[in-house]
Amino acid sequence: MPESLSRRDFMKVSVYFVGGIVGATVGLPAVGYLIDPALGGVAKEAWIPLGKLADMPEVGKPYPFSFTRVQVNGWERTATSHGGFVIRKSDAPDDLVILNSRCTHLACTVNWKEEERVFLCPCHDASFDAEGAVLDGPPPRPLDRYAEFRVTEDGILEIFYKEG
Ligand code: FES
Repeated sequence: MPESLSRRDFMKVSVYFVGGIVGATVGLPAVGYLIDPALGGVAKEAWIPLGKLADMPEVGKPYPFSFTRVQVNGWERTATSHGGFVIRKSDAPDDLVILNSRCTHLACTVNWKEEERVFLCPCHDASFDAEGAVLDGPPPRPLDRYAEFRVTEDGILEIFYKEG
């Protein structure tokens, strides 16, 4: 006796088949979206380009820079701005001081005052000298430095950034 598919069974199979395709089309990207933060991530350390060293020619002049890093905590992404100053101590390409512009007291951003040749913190009137040493105010230590840096073959100055 030949097996035959009743009209009702055929309709059931067709509905399941089409439903499965629609479910996969809608569901797979949604699942990918939901688990992506758990799979992906942003590197916790990286070389950050600050610009061409040739564009920072003057010895003793603080050249400001800034960059943004994204931190990923599960499904939450937080963009954080960072900044600092590059100061040439001589014409040698590796004779640099690279200061973090975050005040070591309560993390306000310091600004360079050319007339007085100091970094001033607007929050509690602290001042730092051109190499980041505390001159006045409540900061407990000098401005932090980006100690690891390099100049690429293309002449780009890069600093090594490490989260935390
Ligand atoms: S945050 Fe800079 S002196 Fe307080």
